[in-house]
Amino acid sequence: MCGIVGYVGTQQAAPILIDGLSKLEYRGYDSAGIAVRDGENEPEIIKEKGKLKVLAEMTNNGKAVVGCCGIGHTRWATHGEPSAVNAHPHASDDLNVIAVHNGIIENYQELREKLEKHGYVFKSQTDTEVAVKLIDYYYKKYAPLPVEAIARSMVRIRGSYALCIMFKDYPGEVYCARKDSPMIIGIANGESYVASDVPAILKYTRNVYYIGNMEIAKLEQGNVTFFNIDSEVIEKPLTEIRWDAEAAEKGGYEHFMLKEIHEQPKVVRDTINSVVHEGVVHFDSVNLTDDEMKEIEQIYIVACGSAYHVGVALQYVIEELTSLQVRVELASEFRYRKMQLHKKSLVIVISQSGETADTLAALREARDNGIKTLGIVNVVGSTIAREAENVFYTLAGPEISVATTKAYSCQLVAGYLLALQFAKARGEIEEARYQELIEEIFTIPDKIERILEDKERIQWYSNKLVNVTDSFFIGRGIDYAIGMEGSLKLKEISYIHSEAYAAGELKHGPISLIEDGTIVISVVTQSNLVEKTISNMVEVKSRGAKVMAVTTMGNYYLEDTAEFTCYVPKIDNLFAGSLSVIPLQLLSYYVSIGKGYDVDKPRNLAKSVTVE
Ligand code: AGP
Ligand code: GLU
Repeated sequence: MCGIVGYVGTQQAAPILIDGLSKLEYRGYDSAGIAVRDGENEPEIIKEKGKLKVLAEMTNNGKAVVGCCGIGHTRWATHGEPSAVNAHPHASDDLNVIAVHNGIIENYQELREKLEKHGYVFKSQTDTEVAVKLIDYYYKKYAPLPVEAIARSMVRIRGSYALCIMFKDYPGEVYCARKDSPMIIGIANGESYVASDVPAILKYTRNVYYIGNMEIAKLEQGNVTFFNIDSEVIEKPLTEIRWDAEAAEKGGYEHFMLKEIHEQPKVVRDTINSVVHEGVVHFDSVNLTDDEMKEIEQIYIVACGSAYHVGVALQYVIEELTSLQVRVELASEFRYRKMQLHKKSLVIVISQSGETADTLAALREARDNGIKTLGIVNVVGSTIAREAENVFYTLAGPEISVATTKAYSCQLVAGYLLALQFAKARGEIEEARYQELIEEIFTIPDKIERILEDKERIQWYSNKLVNVTDSFFIGRGIDYAIGMEGSLKLKEISYIHSEAYAAGELKHGPISLIEDGTIVISVVTQSNLVEKTISNMVEVKSRGAKVMAVTTMGNYYLEDTAEFTCYVPKIDNLFAGSLSVIPLQLLSYYVSIGKGYDVDKPRNLAKSVTVE
């Protein structure tokens, strides 16, 4: 998820581009760049690794760059680690086409091979450079018309994109193309603007066009023309933006956490699509071969906080699908234990930030003991990503809220796919079951979407918990792992004491804490364990507890015991955690705002704990 901006007008472009990018840094900040053109003169491309301030210093906040037409980009790498060469803008070698991009070109490898056969040479590791040279290819092969070349490229490209493009033969013009990635086009007297999001242009205009999927736009000074994929001119209504800048940065949501909860269907889908092509998991990018998977006899999953909870859930999934031994360890413990690590092991470290000190130390401990390592990481080029032998990147995009939601969900599906591929590589799953589970994984994003439609009910119930002081989350199997995450979510942003217990463990002590009004939230999705957990719900209710249940559609009899029941769509037991966690994220969010707390920046916590 990057930030892109474009400008055509009568003012100097570079300062406007840099100012716009500064309003989009929440969308990505590992590198930045601009391309500016002064009339017919050669365009100037300036780009560098690092935050936007590096580029601002290089260009004296844009004042050192002359020209009234330009594009800019602040990057969140998905393909190719953060570096100057991978930074945007990318260009064809003769600067005929220059562009910036937000999104993922899923079929970039096949397109790159095609273009290499036609003599194209690639400088970067990005998917974006492929899109740029594809447009250049079509521009030179067919009519040298920007809209036609872009349209042809859009037909060939699979994936998502918001592209801003400049053509050498068309000075003073910026072209845009969009599919699935956000893009907004603003207009003022004599000025035209394009950006990933409203904050970048709000200072200049509130009059905007929303470019649709598979549409193209041509920006000139104070004029915008829209085209459909057939290069036909189409009319678009002009809309007035009523948001303030802060609301705009959160996409209209009140907090980043709620925005990120709602981004989960898309980013989970992106993460699945990054390795599943035509119903088969391809781990080329993860660089873990089937033969290597066959050799492994023990898996250690090592992480902290929510990432650790992902590991607890994945332990059940991997054990269900394979004969592998799986241990899950807290990174802060793993690094000090004198464990005899099995030589034929794989240590999987899970980390959103890729910078968590304890997890990094555990990774180094494993590596120094000659153990194969794999990182499931969200930040491309982060320390853990660079030091792990293999990396599976989640595509959650920048996660701003301290309480993780979308990265957690992407880590879960990454783990499912890894477990499935291990089972297949080791011949421990029938092809039919493999295909069935792949299809089931693809239903997760839409099922999350359906749960989010029910958020008002959860908000209503959360108001009953605002004055609660103690809460317990219970579940069995994967439900227990999800209860751990729900408990952490509640305590870390609403400061309510909360503990998660294996439901079967209550009678071994914790049940003594249950008294009138104690809140017990039970997760009940594992079809083979429902009855057992209901018994525990009855036990606590008989001692005065107020019980909430998160369960699968159809388990209506839980309402005999639970005072509030939240239903999630049916799905294979193995993946139910991806659904049951959503109501718990929403519950903790609404309780926290009900208490008037700073949801995105809870007290005492940091987004990435880079100290021990
Ligand atoms: C979860 O909401 C917290 N932000 C925290 O537990 C987090 O999951 C943990 O610090 C691990 O961070 P990482 O994924 O960046 O390594
Ligand atoms: N896929 C492009 C890159 O890696 C754009 C990334 C993004 O949109 O976050 O450079």
